Amino acid sequence: VGSLKEADVKGKRVFVRVDLNVPLDDHFHITDDTRIRAALPTINYLIQNGARVILASHLGRPKGVTPKYSLKPLVPRLSELLGLEVKMANDSVGPEVEKLVAELPEGGVLLLENVRFYKEEEKNDPEFAKKLASLADLYVNDAFGTAHRAHASTEGVAKVLKPAVAGFLMQKELDYLVGAVSNPQKPFAAIVGGSKVSSKIGVIESLLEKVDMLLLGGGMIFTFYKAQGYAVGSSLVEEDKLDLATSLMEKAKTKGVSLLLPTDVVIADKFAADANSKIVPASEIPDGWMGLDIGPDAIKSFGSALDTTKTIIWNGPMGVFEFDKFAAGTEAIADKLAELSGKGVTTIIGGGDSVAAVEKVGLAEKMSHISTGGGASLELLEGKQLPGVLALDDA
Ligand code: 3PG
Repeated sequence: VGSLKEADVKGKRVFVRVDLNVPLDDHFHITDDTRIRAALPTINYLIQNGARVILASHLGRPKGVTPKYSLKPLVPRLSELLGLEVKMANDSVGPEVEKLVAELPEGGVLLLENVRFYKEEEKNDPEFAKKLASLADLYVNDAFGTAHRAHASTEGVAKVLKPAVAGFLMQKELDYLVGAVSNPQKPFAAIVGGSKVSSKIGVIESLLEKVDMLLLGGGMIFTFYKAQGYAVGSSLVEEDKLDLATSLMEKAKTKGVSLLLPTDVVIADKFAADANSKIVPASEIPDGWMGLDIGPDAIKSFGSALDTTKTIIWNGPMGVFEFDKFAAGTEAIADKLAELSGKGVTTIIGGGDSVAAVEKVGLAEKMSHISTGGGASLELLEGKQLPGVLALDDA
């Protein structure tokens, strides 16, 4: 069996690893249910095809059984979205869970308690994986956001419970983040932002092999500026990455990739929402000032460059978009991508902060694909293989 659609699920107990690691506030209210909604196509398909659905997930990073990391607060929302009453287990393995599974009717859904309440989960303990596997007849991994972790419920169980196939969300993430990125419609542009070069080295190096154009924004640009001898004031600079920045710029040149750095920046007199701000050319940041966003000229030239493309991947914000004063660059990129999506350009938002930015401005629906994975999408963009994917039958 290669895919979920080919698997015979009628009446079968299906163990579905989902990533329901959603943010909760102090009152255990879900503040963003994107990951729950993203898991629905697979769960609904299984319900409609008469499977007995066992959902497993982690939440947070608990050390042992920690009530505040229980998955119970998710049950009402999940039930509402699925239009049926989801049953909750107090554990993820053991006799009580086995009993609940045995009682599960066709089309019924059982949510197991946080698998990370067992240290064996993160250790990828084979005995624990076997216990999870013993609950079901087949395995579906739809937890893209956790596919970079070789844990018992993401990797270990796939080795012992067959068939082991990808869910629809997993498939869609791979189609975009691997398929579209390795086989893009050209011209292909990558926009990479974020505060540190050090956390994006792998992504930049890997994308330089594939793109026609690389646009850089966010805090990391000041390391590139300093490497070129610009005055950067008190902007964030990784002194130990100056040589690396130089070599990345040279690599781009050798590869014929046009590397665009913002020509102007918005600077601030302190790192705060109410800082004084002004716009200056990128090479002229005065002492005591720090760059917190890309400037209007940069927005314009990035926009014109992107107008010529057919595929765009975006990872990392252009500035400190949490502060309204320094959100314009990130929002302008989100607007531009939404506009180009409407014109048939493939737009992929690869995880983490850039996803939060696109959601903040309400443009998520406009993009071709918004990834539900932070670390997982970064690793894929770095060209790495994900253990949760490799363990599946059709890897
Ligand atoms: C995430 O939120 O990135 C995933 O759910 C993985 O969580 P983890 O980083 O705690 O493994």
